[in-house]
Amino acid sequence: MNIDFSSLGAKYGTPLYIYDFDYIQNRYLELKEAFSGQKNIINYAVKANSNLSVISLLATQGAGADCVSIGEVKRAVMAGVSKYKIIFSGVGKSDDEIREALNLDILLINLESEEEMKRVEAVASQLGKIARISVRVNPNIDAKTHPYISTGLHDNKFGVEIDMAKRMYIYAKKSQFLNPVGIHFHIGSQLTELEPISEACEIVADLTKTLKAIEIDIKFFDVGGGIGVVYQDEVTINVQDYADMIKNATKNLDVTILCEPGRYMVANSGYFLTKVLYEKKSGKKRFVIVDGAMNDLLRPSLYDAYHKIEAVGKTGEDFLADVVGPVCESGDFFGKDISLPKLEHNDLLVVKSAGAYGFSMSSNYNTRGRVAEVAIQGQMDRIIRKRETFEDMIALEKEFLV
Ligand code: LLP
Repeated sequence: MNIDFSSLGAKYGTPLYIYDFDYIQNRYLELKEAFSGQKNIINYAVKANSNLSVISLLATQGAGADCVSIGEVKRAVMAGVSKYKIIFSGVGKSDDEIREALNLDILLINLESEEEMKRVEAVASQLGKIARISVRVNPNIDAKTHPYISTGLHDNKFGVEIDMAKRMYIYAKKSQFLNPVGIHFHIGSQLTELEPISEACEIVADLTKTLKAIEIDIKFFDVGGGIGVVYQDEVTINVQDYADMIKNATKNLDVTILCEPGRYMVANSGYFLTKVLYEKKSGKKRFVIVDGAMNDLLRPSLYDAYHKIEAVGKTGEDFLADVVGPVCESGDFFGKDISLPKLEHNDLLVVKSAGAYGFSMSSNYNTRGRVAEVAIQGQMDRIIRKRETFEDMIALEKEFLV
């Protein structure tokens, strides 16, 4: 897709997130097709990009949602996701969140500890409801990704060990207020190898068999998210191989597959457009200072993540530069030693693959308003989130000023 970044920058201002909705739709359809032949729901992981219009685009295609807070659950409902396709996961849910989720009657609450199960049971009994639950199993598998986004080892805070999971299912089966209908694992994010997911899948499929043998009727087999994408030149998972592996591992189980992709759906749909303020030399070092910053796109600072950066409509000899923002932190950079032509005030740079964990991890640090978001679909572009103003940022404080 040929995107006219200059026009979009002129029309909506910078910094700016731009998402290609046709790309997102195609990714969804591609994954859906890969799972064909077996009952499945693609539960888009809302945390990757929580814009209501993004969720709504996917909901229109039939997607469900994987949520990690009641806020995300409410976004999914508001965006039109069917309540029976919404999952509520996460290691810590407050009683209020559990109550709201039960009242909304979503597909299931995913439990990550015995303690949490007891809380869900208590809240369900107060409401006189039966909570549909799944248990997140930690299969103790090294997902071979960045330690901050690896979640499937016993060292990580996520999920429960197999023996504990069994005990929880047996308890839940006996409880008047719990209905164990699902099983879940998620071993990490940005996974580029199938092998660890396949191992986890086998372990959890075995456990499902054992549970079915003792009449715990698991209907939903949730394989989590984590499919890696190309940021640079990674060789990543082929989704047909991924889906075939899962279909094969579960073929005699009579389950609906739930899959929770976030990054896969949106990462490469997104562009972060930022304007050059000026160049600066410090010794031999060249800095390109832009109007975007770490508060807008945190991944390079937080994970040392690579995002391709290109100058819009500029040619000429490239030489190395660090692309940095105005925030007062040395970690405020988008890229180091990037080849870029000579740049001037108001030139545009585009930071690629910014659709996942970009805007959704942004903040108001340094009292910088969160940026606008724009969708492009066919030949059309439209705003899907306004730029935050100074007034927006102080709205919840100013009445307390003495
Ligand atoms: N399901 C569960 C239970 C998860 O914890 C996650 C992501 C997903 C699904 C979606 O994973 P994905 O398909 O997007 O890999 N902020 C980090 C990523 C954190 C991922 C957290 N969990 C980043 O920018 O790389």
